[in-house]
Amino acid sequence: MGFFDTAIGWVGQNKAVTVLSVLLFAFFISTIALAVQKNNLAAELKTCESTPTPTPGNLQHRLPSSIIPTHYELLLHPDLGEQKFTGKVTISFRITEAAQRIILNSYKLAITTVTLQSPTSQAIETAHALNETYQVLVITPKSGQLATTADNQFYKVTIEFNGEMTGKNVGLYSSKYMRLDGASPREVTISSSKFQPTYARQAFPCFDEPEFKATYNISLIRPNDGEYIALSNMPEEETTDGPANNLKTVKFEESPPMSTYLAVFLVADFKHDDVEIENALGENFKMTMYLPAGQQDKGKFALNAAKDIIEYYIKYFNIKYPLPKLDMAAIPDYVSGATEHWGLVTFRETSLLWDEKEGSARNRQRVASVISHELAHMWFGNLITCKWWNDVWLNEGFASYIEYKGLSVISENEGWQIDEQFLIEDLHSVLELDSKVASHAITQDATTPDEITALFDAIAYNKGASVIRMMESFVGPAVFQKAVEKFINNFQFKSVETADFFHYMDQEVTGINVTEIMSTWIHQKGYPVVTVKKLSATTYELTQERFLINPDSKAQETEQSPFRWHVPITYVTDVANGDKVEWLKPTDEKHTLNVGAASKWVKINNKQEGYYIVNYDNWDEIITELNNVESKLGPMDRAQLLHDVFKLGDSMTVPYNTALKLSTYLKETNETEYVPWSVATNTFTSLYLLLDHSLELQTYITNLIELIYDYVDPQKIGEADDGHLMKLLREKIMNLACRMGQSKCLRYVSAEFYTYLDSLGTAELVKPDVDIRQTVYYYGMKGITNAVDWDKVYDQFIKENDPQERAKLMEALAATSSKQLLTKYMNIAQQKDGPIKQQDYVTIMQYIAYNPLGIDIVWDYVRNHWDNITQIIDVNDRTLGRMIPNITKRFSTAAKLQELQLFFERFPIAGAGAAARIEARETIEYNIKWMEHNKAAIEKWLQENTV
Ligand code: MLT
Ligand code: ZN
Repeated sequence: MGFFDTAIGWVGQNKAVTVLSVLLFAFFISTIALAVQKNNLAAELKTCESTPTPTPGNLQHRLPSSIIPTHYELLLHPDLGEQKFTGKVTISFRITEAAQRIILNSYKLAITTVTLQSPTSQAIETAHALNETYQVLVITPKSGQLATTADNQFYKVTIEFNGEMTGKNVGLYSSKYMRLDGASPREVTISSSKFQPTYARQAFPCFDEPEFKATYNISLIRPNDGEYIALSNMPEEETTDGPANNLKTVKFEESPPMSTYLAVFLVADFKHDDVEIENALGENFKMTMYLPAGQQDKGKFALNAAKDIIEYYIKYFNIKYPLPKLDMAAIPDYVSGATEHWGLVTFRETSLLWDEKEGSARNRQRVASVISHELAHMWFGNLITCKWWNDVWLNEGFASYIEYKGLSVISENEGWQIDEQFLIEDLHSVLELDSKVASHAITQDATTPDEITALFDAIAYNKGASVIRMMESFVGPAVFQKAVEKFINNFQFKSVETADFFHYMDQEVTGINVTEIMSTWIHQKGYPVVTVKKLSATTYELTQERFLINPDSKAQETEQSPFRWHVPITYVTDVANGDKVEWLKPTDEKHTLNVGAASKWVKINNKQEGYYIVNYDNWDEIITELNNVESKLGPMDRAQLLHDVFKLGDSMTVPYNTALKLSTYLKETNETEYVPWSVATNTFTSLYLLLDHSLELQTYITNLIELIYDYVDPQKIGEADDGHLMKLLREKIMNLACRMGQSKCLRYVSAEFYTYLDSLGTAELVKPDVDIRQTVYYYGMKGITNAVDWDKVYDQFIKENDPQERAKLMEALAATSSKQLLTKYMNIAQQKDGPIKQQDYVTIMQYIAYNPLGIDIVWDYVRNHWDNITQIIDVNDRTLGRMIPNITKRFSTAAKLQELQLFFERFPIAGAGAAARIEARETIEYNIKWMEHNKAAIEKWLQENTV
């Protein structure tokens, strides 16, 4: 899943401003942060005295494979008052090679005792030490080595430990929220966990690698105050009093073998609701949703959606849901969109809570998508798991693809056309990243926690999903399903590698070698552009070449790879549908496509199922066909043509005029479909920002969207029952219209916004229609420059209890046209324990940077105070890593490139953002080149073609 809802590119250009108050404030914050950090550090470094620290020289990030954990007995006590936790774990393990020492993961934990028992229950005296660099605990027997174990023999190590729960949102951490259901609001503390990929070691010492699957007996100590509950992966077995008067101990049933990152703990006073799941293959079971008190009514949509989706998956995989229960919980502070903890999926509130008053159609689709993604993981990811993170795409790409199958149960009833939306939700964004040298192959080595978390990126999720979609298109859905079912069945409760998956595909198909075909997509980065040359009325010549968005970047490539692919070719012509796949092979100099009957045109890559783009020697034929109102080209074909031609224009492969000319079909044929318009609005928004708010482009676009604006006109809301896609379309069109300064849109938005603003602070809020509310708030706030009005909206944001509404306001606050207010917002966002959640910090920084007036405020702060930022957000946070390319993506001058370079030199520790930094640099280099090459030509065409 994408990690949080991002708005479309509200990005702008830069103006230099450095505000003294920022500096003073930053100093203040950094001083506090430093003091807090020192305290934490002291606690963290409290290792057992008088034990030798192993020299890092003989340690490494990977654990030895000869010590194999089989079972964990784990007791954890999150102390909600102190916001610290204590715990005790006994790990049973086997040894396959005599060992001098036991190495397991432990990080940010203080270890109080360690005892080791031999397979014959003899106590073995040990010394132990922690190593922060490798995040390990090393336990060394004082005499002799540990012998190998026979079958059914186990050593047992018991470790007592403690740690902090504040200032973080990974590992075991505390989270706070306001309970509004009593006589007066009160703040409640809960404790929750998030371990994927390398944070279980921050909650208990463990063998924190996905291949080390073991069973768990988990017990949690919770407050005994009636409302608190304790939850984990498995159902509760028993609850006993103690260990103190005010505490209870909840013991859970033993889990099946699972990876450490899937363990989960929750102690909270949440309310719940449940449904029974019809288990087509076994006993029915209960699905329970846990929500913060006061929010419980907002879980209905999610619960019903989850029920439909999980029942679908049981039938689709034809494998029973593996655990006896399934819970979902919304956590007030959550670092990602959600995590697939087995049996208890935890979500950020905006990914689970939805009601029709505050949640838009887009929010609703997002909630359903996240649920569908996480529930797919119950099989793909949890029942079978990648052996090592280099294959994380097997978890994430698969879940990101299967998620669409799960969503189809809702999409079919409600007309979401979810399959079409794949193009704009998953495919196109990754085609952009993957057209850079800075991209990487789907399978990629990773060793350190920073490298590992960085792999949870668009390549694993979106490209992974896209190449699986392509594979299903050429093996066929029935074969695909069978292979998946057999694959999961065979490896259940075990770990897998990429080759295993394709092996199972190969067993089901005849005539092609899936392993060979797919290795060209999995083991090398990038993708091809297929060039189509018409030879005659029935034959076309196809060739392939790696597609690079910046032709100059080829020189920077250091990777040795043929950059040739097995390209599945499908086509449609004016008289034929070529659904049968033909192959353009890596070794083919060219491929001659015979389309049978004489045709006027050919369009390659049906529904853009192949992970490639297409260039035609005669775009005019395609453009003519697009302008034919009777055209047989479907919405996905049209979206694809728009996408491909602009990419080819961007990469200077075809003249930009061709792309602009193609776009005129949108008005000529009165296009009304959401997916093609979505491609167009995203493309034009980027173009407008790169061209620095070109007036010519503004005129062109305003004219182009004239008819579609009337079609979606917000004045008509309520006249007819709009469908889901109409709501999504309206929002997209209005955003573009308002950005272009189209007067109808701005007038409407302004009237709605002032009605809302005037109602703030009165007994009854008057809110705009929920599906365009974000647009109204955003463009309404753009007109605000005075602190009084901004503060009114800010106060509402702080008070707001609904997560979807809060998210809309959070973005709108960054739209103001006052630099002072933007600075103020940035400063508030970084207050430690301030009103804004840590999970939202990077998002807000990006929102401010997307405002043309805010970019330099953010950029100056980031490049001068990176140290302060990394005290708020750990450099291991992947969202922080992504922040650099996100905020600098519109820079297009040599001066900005140099600033970026200096920033990297000044702060060389990139954490999980190392690859993202390289990407950021490449993007700016490309923007510079793009401006030199395209700007004048575009302006010329616009002048000639705009009335
Ligand atoms: C996912 O569901 O894809 C991931 O678990 C996201 C995460 O929490 O890291
Ligand atoms: Zn996932």
